[in-house]
Amino acid sequence: MALSPSELDAIRENPYRAGFPLLAANPGIAYLDSAATSQRPKSVLDAEMRFYETMNANALRGLYRLSVEATAAIDAARAHIARFIGASDPAEVIFTRNTSESLNLAARSLGKLLLNEGDEVVISIMEHHSNLIPWQQICAERGATLTYLYLDDEYRIPASELDKIGPRTKIVSVTQVSNVLGVENDVAGIAARAHAVGAVCVVDGAQSVPHIPVDVAELGCDFLAFSGHKMLAPMGIGVLWGKRALLEAMPPFLTGGEMIDSVSEQGAVWAPIPAKFEAGTQDGAGIVALGAAVSYLEGIGMAAVEERERLLAIALTDALASLPFIDIVGPVDGARHVGAVSFNVRGVHPHDVSSILDMSEVCIRAGHHCAEPLLKRLSESSTCRASIALYNDLSDIDRLVNGLESVWKVFNG
Ligand SMILES: Cc1ncc(COP(=O)(O)O)c(C=O)c1O
Repeated sequence: MALSPSELDAIRENPYRAGFPLLAANPGIAYLDSAATSQRPKSVLDAEMRFYETMNANALRGLYRLSVEATAAIDAARAHIARFIGASDPAEVIFTRNTSESLNLAARSLGKLLLNEGDEVVISIMEHHSNLIPWQQICAERGATLTYLYLDDEYRIPASELDKIGPRTKIVSVTQVSNVLGVENDVAGIAARAHAVGAVCVVDGAQSVPHIPVDVAELGCDFLAFSGHKMLAPMGIGVLWGKRALLEAMPPFLTGGEMIDSVSEQGAVWAPIPAKFEAGTQDGAGIVALGAAVSYLEGIGMAAVEERERLLAIALTDALASLPFIDIVGPVDGARHVGAVSFNVRGVHPHDVSSILDMSEVCIRAGHHCAEPLLKRLSESSTCRASIALYNDLSDIDRLVNGLESVWKVFNG
């Protein structure tokens, strides 16, 4: 699918890169590993530093000015992040460390609330281990079954697979975008199927929230997990959004300070949400910086982010498909990729590809991408993965292509 001259011009231009200090300081780097972690703009780094320089105090615990300011900044960020994902109630936004912790929280607390012997959790075969192992664990503990939705030849979950969602299903947990294939699932349709049998729908938004507009009300899901570090914010801050009624009914995940109303020698009364799920000192600076990352993305507009990345994904897929020694793992239609494209260089191990590309400062990921069951299903043991963000441009893709030609020459003369 060839891009028009004006579309190519749009991704040849790059008004963003200069605002990302690491990229600005390293003009030679082609950073194509944003699915693993993104780079951060200066405004986000400044926001994190400003927290420590101007309001550093343990939020919630203090009644003095600094602590009150830190608390207010966290509350404002929580409300802002709620609006960003279309949630009307900021108390439904729980801060965690990352998507993995968010999904562990969901699995453990929901599992204890909903799962009994003979019940069923349904996930897809394209889940990251973070949306797979927590369900394996809780299913084993509760005597429940873990059932998989498989893909068709076009890398879609076909309607027939959704028939697996049945009367025994209590939880359906799926990724919105695959970190390996880059494809987007019809999460709204899956949530509707889950609700039709009275099940709860959890969505892994780690690879969608950074790249496309995501609105929990439109998706109709019950939970959404995502990581700050993949959406321009610092490492160590993540979110689990959940519907109030479910969060209120669920038992806590981590226990300790800040998550209680009162404690006696033999028991405790939990605090209202969100505090019930936020034991211990929170990453105040990270939360404020996540708010700044959301401001940055809103400043561009998620629709504009999506459109730029759509063009980049098409250019990337087309460029890879034009190389006769490359096999794309996933759809060859670039328009179906959100962020990530997996591929292999024929006869060359992905680790060798990545190491050789590194010599020309092209950063990609190689391995199983924490999705071993998917790779096994695809008869692959590992792949190369190039992934994009809004700060990429056509020159990054050209550099990848040149690098891959060098890889091929190293192994084939
Ligand atoms: C789809 C998906 N889910 C979950 C995760 C886990 O994210 P984190 O490492 O931030 O916990 C990732 C990370 O790559 C991912 O791509």
